[in-house]
Amino acid sequence: MGVCLSSRVKAESPCNTGVNSNCVSTDGNFSSTSSNVLSLSVPPTPRSEGEILQSSNVKRFSFADLKMATRNFRPDSVLGEGGFGSVFKGWIDENSFTAAKPGTGMVIAVKRLNQEGFQGHKEWLAEVNYLGQLYHPNLVKLIGYCLEEEHRLLVYEFMPRGSLENHLFRRGSYFQPLSWKLRLKVALGAAKGLAFLHSAETKVIYRDFKTSNILLDSNYNAKLSDFGLAKDGPTGDKSHVSTRVMGTYGYAAPEYLATGHLTARSDVYSFGVVLLEMLSGRRAIDKNRPSGEHNLVEWAKPYLANKRKIFRILDNRLEGQYSMEGAYKAANLALRCLSAEAKFRPNMDEVVTALEQLHDSKESGGNRNNPTNGQRMRRRSADDVNINKRAVSSYPRPSVSPLYA
Ligand SMILES: Nc1ncnc2c1ncn2[C@@H]1O[C@H](COP(=O)(O)OP(=O)(O)O)[C@@H](O)[C@H]1O
Ligand SMILES: [Mg+2]
Repeated sequence: MGVCLSSRVKAESPCNTGVNSNCVSTDGNFSSTSSNVLSLSVPPTPRSEGEILQSSNVKRFSFADLKMATRNFRPDSVLGEGGFGSVFKGWIDENSFTAAKPGTGMVIAVKRLNQEGFQGHKEWLAEVNYLGQLYHPNLVKLIGYCLEEEHRLLVYEFMPRGSLENHLFRRGSYFQPLSWKLRLKVALGAAKGLAFLHSAETKVIYRDFKTSNILLDSNYNAKLSDFGLAKDGPTGDKSHVSTRVMGTYGYAAPEYLATGHLTARSDVYSFGVVLLEMLSGRRAIDKNRPSGEHNLVEWAKPYLANKRKIFRILDNRLEGQYSMEGAYKAANLALRCLSAEAKFRPNMDEVVTALEQLHDSKESGGNRNNPTNGQRMRRRSADDVNINKRAVSSYPRPSVSPLYA
């Protein structure tokens, strides 16, 4: 089948073509790449600005400007790294959008593609076109992009608290353990972002839901970032879209791994994995754990369904902050999202409703008299969603996978 996931699978990787199955090394990265396989599997595509949807409401930056804004991509201003490249902190003038002195104007995050080839360009373009079209309080805001010769960069609003991954798994004085209440708030925000993507007017499958792609603002509002693997959902009476298998080990739904058939319920499974990571404080895959505990879902599932056993999987840094009832409901929600059969998973609207109830309930440390609760409980309103439907539906579809066509 050629299914092969590394820390993050790239569509063009030889792994996914089935041509080369020897592709995961012990450190989880691809052990070999072959550019001629790339050209076999991917049709040539123009790499011009014409591919960027006209209605994209984003600004074009020059490379020189972003170089200056990030002080020549200074290593000490790196905010994070992912499969696509490094993300740097920078400053621009909020009116002219030109580089500003550090500490003045508007703070930005600049992601710089560090891989050559079509796949990097494709992911870059997907981010420009999806994030350039989609507006929601739980999606990170794309300010602009740079396309100049081989340079591919993306400019986002700066998210001061960084990724959920750092808060859950980094140790150190800066990263204090997130409280139970904050974990529920972050889970709810991220769920609303996914629910928006899956909604009838948007119909986008995110495909790479994981803690490093959930960013936090200063108030711990969660925003989804990294739309490189996002894909239009099925249309008409189709039940799924066929794709190469891409995503991240530990997060991808079993049926997607087995067949390449992608549905919104694949994202729901990944959401279940993240919820479980938040409840347990453990990574989806952790080779440093004793054998039998490497895969979080496999290890935790038997405990999730049992009221008397769930405390065994709960992060002991949360002790005393939750009621057993609240913990059981959260664990049960994770379990339902992780159903092996996709049809038994809830949809993201149901997940949002369940998390809203948990977040605001007394047993989870919520406060019904909190005047902001009414706002939190509010379902998405027209004001939250400003989306250009025509443009979204005309998003160019990536080519069909030779594996799963
Ligand atoms: N807007 C931002 N503000 C603050 N940190 C960010 C921002 N965007 C990304 N990061 C940091 O960089 C990391 C990688 O970003 P991501 O967009 O996921 O890149 P990739 O596409 O390479 O996976 C994130 O996990 C986060 O730590
Ligand atoms: Mg990422």
